[in-house]
Amino acid sequence: MKIALLGTGKTGSKIMENKIHEIICFNTKNLPTFDLLTKCDVVISFLPGDVFVHYIPLLVETKLPVVCGSTGLSWPADLNETLKIKNLSWIHGTNFSLGVAVVKTLLEKINSLSSLFSQPKISIHEVHHIHKKDAPSGTALSMKEWIGLDCDITSAREGDVIGHHELTFNTGSEKIIITHEALDRKLFADGAIWAAEYLFKNKRPGLHSFQTVLEDTL
Ligand SMILES: NC(=O)c1ccc[n+]([C@@H]2O[C@H](COP(=O)([O-])OP(=O)(O)OC[C@H]3O[C@@H](n4cnc5c(N)ncnc54)[C@H](OP(=O)(O)O)[C@@H]3O)[C@@H](O)[C@H]2O)c1
Repeated sequence: MKIALLGTGKTGSKIMENKIHEIICFNTKNLPTFDLLTKCDVVISFLPGDVFVHYIPLLVETKLPVVCGSTGLSWPADLNETLKIKNLSWIHGTNFSLGVAVVKTLLEKINSLSSLFSQPKISIHEVHHIHKKDAPSGTALSMKEWIGLDCDITSAREGDVIGHHELTFNTGSEKIIITHEALDRKLFADGAIWAAEYLFKNKRPGLHSFQTVLEDTL
């Protein structure tokens, strides 16, 4: 499989370590074009979110399957419909870690049992490296969506922290704390490559979340 890799920074560079697939790299020194992209089988993006949004029309034009790991972007409201009409398959994920997929299951379980507790106080604290552009992180926003309850998010930017997320569910008389700590950016690369291999083998028109596709295949 020939992967067009958009973004070769802290996370994209981990995709470049893959020995199984051919990786064609794009960044500010080698900008993606229609002709260069269409020589590839699939696109993986670890561009900053605002940059990825700028490339969406070009990516749609290439008709390639796309795996988007970029965060901090607003998806165009009509994109899912456009992809379905054009029979194009895209996967997006705010966090390509398999451990975060497990966290999603735990949070959905807490949501389904939340009526057992009266007015629990829920908060999420996330910590990332000082170069991260978006706050709160895409993962923190996803965690809030998965627990489906009122919840405050706080963010801190420190050193080279890859990704730390801590959700606290406090009933006043007891506390549940769920923590996820990313130890190596390779885990994001592995998840994104898994999604790219999936789209190479399977047609799934529309814009799908990584977690949904993962859950459907397990
Ligand atoms: N979904 C996940 O699991 C996950 C995990 C980690 C991070 N992320 C997200 O991935 C994104 C990238 O994070 P990062 O920490 O790897 O960022 P980074 O180290 O800043 O790398 C950004 C890359 O984008 C390239 N770039 C910037 N502007 C460009 C443009 N106009 N055209 C082409 N290339 C351009 C840069 O090119 P140069 O190298 O030439 O400067 C660089 O290679 C962020 O949105 C982050 O939140 C997602």
